[in-house]
Amino acid sequence: MSVPILKIGMVLSTMAMVTNWMSQTLPSLVGLNQTLSGTDRETAVYPGQEEGWQVFGSVSDVEGKCVCTLLAPPQNLCKKDPRHKRLRQLTEHVQNVSQYLEVLDLRTSRDLQYIRDSEKQLISVEIRQSVLKCLPLLAVLSQFRADVAQLEHLQQEVERLRSGLSLLQEQMEAYDYYQLQHRALLLEDRLQTCVNTVGCGKLTGISHPVTIRSFGSRFGSWMMDSMILSSDNRVWSMDGYYRGRRVLEYSSLSDFTKGQNFVVHQLPHPWAGTGHVVYNGSLYYNKHQTNIIVQYNLHSRTVTLQRNLGQAGYNNTFPYSWGGSSDIDLMADESGLWAVYTTIPNGGNLVVSRLDPTTLEVLKSWDTGFPKRSAGEAFLICGTLYVTNSHLAGAKVHFAYNTNTSEYEYTDVPFHNLYSHISMLDYNPRERVLYTWNNGHQVLYNVTLFHIIKSFADT
Ligand SMILES: *[C@@H]1O[C@H](CO)[C@@H](O)[C@H](O)[C@H]1NC(C)=O
Ligand SMILES: *[C@@H]1O[C@H](CO)[C@@H](O)[C@H](O)[C@H]1NC(C)=O
Ligand SMILES: *[C@@H]1O[C@H](CO)[C@@H](O)[C@H](O)[C@H]1NC(C)=O
Ligand SMILES: *[C@@H]1O[C@H](CO)[C@@H](O)[C@H](O)[C@H]1NC(C)=O
Ligand SMILES: *[C@@H]1O[C@H](CO)[C@@H](O)[C@H](O)[C@H]1NC(C)=O
Ligand SMILES: *[C@@H]1O[C@H](CO)[C@@H](O)[C@H](O)[C@H]1NC(C)=O
Repeated sequence: MSVPILKIGMVLSTMAMVTNWMSQTLPSLVGLNQTLSGTDRETAVYPGQEEGWQVFGSVSDVEGKCVCTLLAPPQNLCKKDPRHKRLRQLTEHVQNVSQYLEVLDLRTSRDLQYIRDSEKQLISVEIRQSVLKCLPLLAVLSQFRADVAQLEHLQQEVERLRSGLSLLQEQMEAYDYYQLQHRALLLEDRLQTCVNTVGCGKLTGISHPVTIRSFGSRFGSWMMDSMILSSDNRVWSMDGYYRGRRVLEYSSLSDFTKGQNFVVHQLPHPWAGTGHVVYNGSLYYNKHQTNIIVQYNLHSRTVTLQRNLGQAGYNNTFPYSWGGSSDIDLMADESGLWAVYTTIPNGGNLVVSRLDPTTLEVLKSWDTGFPKRSAGEAFLICGTLYVTNSHLAGAKVHFAYNTNTSEYEYTDVPFHNLYSHISMLDYNPRERVLYTWNNGHQVLYNVTLFHIIKSFADT
């Protein structure tokens, strides 16, 4: 009986090396270099008709290499326009990035299949043979590692393309622009799929805490934009949980650390709790003494949307264990915007709802069965809700609910609650860190995520 466990353990620890590496490296995405000027990187060498730049080829072979896609812009009305050249360069870039994404897609799924196959063999043969069978896995894993690096690169490319496109938007003919924009959206979509394949996993570890700053009252929240494709480096902080209206905006994490270079937003409605989130340039928060969610656009400084969250409890009726009107907790993960709360019909159990960020409508809800009053805090990673059992010292991640499978499990992921009173805990999928507000200290944790290989669970 113990033999298979040993074998699995070995594979797992190899995976651990890789995932550790990933969880340490991916956060560096935060510091995306944002230079827009960019003629320096316009080095596209793909064949295209010099002026007509109509159709790019599409090639595919069994190795999974070079699947190009087509782009056929309309006839040139502005050949001599330098912006036209720039647009063409961007197109070539889209082409390039697109091609690499395809390769990456294919390779990633091939590698995953290979790991699965090897792993099945591990379970079925003698342990000595298994060790030998493990060796090729190393090559696969190093490929995985390279893919992650490639992914970072692609993410930067997509970001630059987007910036370039917005610059061109107002200058170019609508048709060209929309066609390119469409391509960029498709790319973002595929990048997202890649991120989810290569970067998603199950939470198995939380690092030592790193105190970024010590300021404000005992309760509060702070955050950065948690949309993966965002390149916004500003930091927002909202001190207190009761009737606050002042949001401080710092231009960077280092300004936040030093408490300098900030501007103040005065919200038109006060907030309740600490469950706010900044997602795609908007702040989402729960309006004081209501179950209304407010969308406040941080650029235009106006409230752009408000909506009731169904029968969600509010006004400190169903808070987390620390109280503080923490009835409604808004958050974002790799897949979008969520609300965590409870209702009387749900008997006080944690409910997690996926929200449409543009309408605030509830798209789907899950009753996790976990009593909210016993929860210290909750956060989402890759569609799984993780719940801590306390806001005090000794807290650990105790419960996990997978919205994809609608299954839960009890977990035991400890972390060091350095200042013994956590009033906010949220995962930021862009930076792959946990943000906490702990007794007037602003603290970050790295996370370790495991890729789940299905047959582990089956044995
Ligand atoms: C997370 O890991 C990265 C890479 O090792 C490191 O630079 C960063 O300081 C860590 N952050 C935290 C909060 O531990
Ligand atoms: C971008 O990177 C280049 C070279 O790596 C560096 O010189 C430049 O200062 C960076 N720009 C920003 C805005 O970080
Ligand atoms: C295409 O992407 C690859 C890999 O990132 C890079 O080495 C190459 O220079 C790029 N080519 C163009 C034309 O951008
Ligand atoms: C992000 O905001 C922009 C406009 O500000 C919008 O066009 C886009 O659809 C939003 N993306 C998501 C994922 O909400
Ligand atoms: C909210 O709670 C406070 C304090 O318990 C109470 O005074 C107030 O009437 C409540 N407001 C609503 C709208 O329930
Ligand atoms: C969701 O579950 C299905 C089947 O249970 C699985 O094939 C798929 O990969 C899962 N997706 C995620 C994002 O976990």
